[in-house]
Amino acid sequence: MEERGLLHMKPKIVVAYNKVSPKVLSFLSESYHVINFDKLDAQTLPNFYQELGDAHGLLTAGLKIDSALLNRAPQLKIVSNISVGYDNLNLLELNKRNVMATNTPGVLNDTVADTVMGLILAVARRIPELDQHVKTGNWKVEDGVNLYGNNVHHKVLGIIGMGGIGTAVAKRAHFGFDMPILYHNRSRHTEAEQMVNAVYCSLEELCQQSDFMCLLTPLTPQTVKLIGEKEFKQMKSTAIFINASRGATVDEQALIRALENKEILGAGLDVFEQEPVSPGNKLLSMDNVVALPHIGSATHETRLEMAMLAAENLVSGLQGKMPPNLINREALKNLF
Ligand code: DGY
Repeated sequence: MEERGLLHMKPKIVVAYNKVSPKVLSFLSESYHVINFDKLDAQTLPNFYQELGDAHGLLTAGLKIDSALLNRAPQLKIVSNISVGYDNLNLLELNKRNVMATNTPGVLNDTVADTVMGLILAVARRIPELDQHVKTGNWKVEDGVNLYGNNVHHKVLGIIGMGGIGTAVAKRAHFGFDMPILYHNRSRHTEAEQMVNAVYCSLEELCQQSDFMCLLTPLTPQTVKLIGEKEFKQMKSTAIFINASRGATVDEQALIRALENKEILGAGLDVFEQEPVSPGNKLLSMDNVVALPHIGSATHETRLEMAMLAAENLVSGLQGKMPPNLINREALKNLF
């Protein structure tokens, strides 16, 4: 009884994420009363909203944080996102309420870059398609020319969004695959230019000259449908398009048409306009498309690091310190 009373004197944190590691939960439980929701569905939502009523911190990923949710959480001081992307957060509404928001940059760069290289190789060398070919009892006929793929090494890689992940992809491509690198970004990235001879160019030049194009930009109002019909028409008919940013950065119908009309050769997609992707989505029935379930950063090691970094961000915010990965300094106006 007494312990229960003490528990409730600790500030409350609500965790809404599927399977946060016990290590992270026990770190948080040292100082906070932690309420953990492994999943949010019709059954758990009413309880989740009730717990938010007096929560000080929310640890989550991908959950839409808008005025409706924030209105249910009047005590909230910080929302800690377990992801680098934060397009799920309505920053204006958070700022209005002086609620801090944080993300987890850096720790996932190498892991997402590995996924991107995996998609490049999988599409160019047709790995999932050939895997199915062999597993369904087939082999090569003579030289197997109908099973040939395309080289990756020495081909031109275009990176749209040269941040931490883009730089990690560029390093792999330059040092491992001898690929010349083009990039398009809001601003010049001198480190990438010096380290891997990356050449800055316009989006149009990048589309025209790349053999492989990786879209890695965050989703913002400026990047919605950044790649659409015009851009696909500018690409080489042998180009392979990779999206590891967010589905909404691409006009998906334009991508489908570009693939159907053979305006480009193939695509590797970790993200879709609608997630979970609808089983009827045309992209899923194309042999030249390799699809992943938005899993670019999902390794055991990296997801643990991300969750721990998110927990540390949350704790600093609740302790009245500046969280290391604060996104919205505007929320601090009246606090520090
Ligand atoms: C990220 O961290 O933004 C990844 O895409 C996972 O959502």
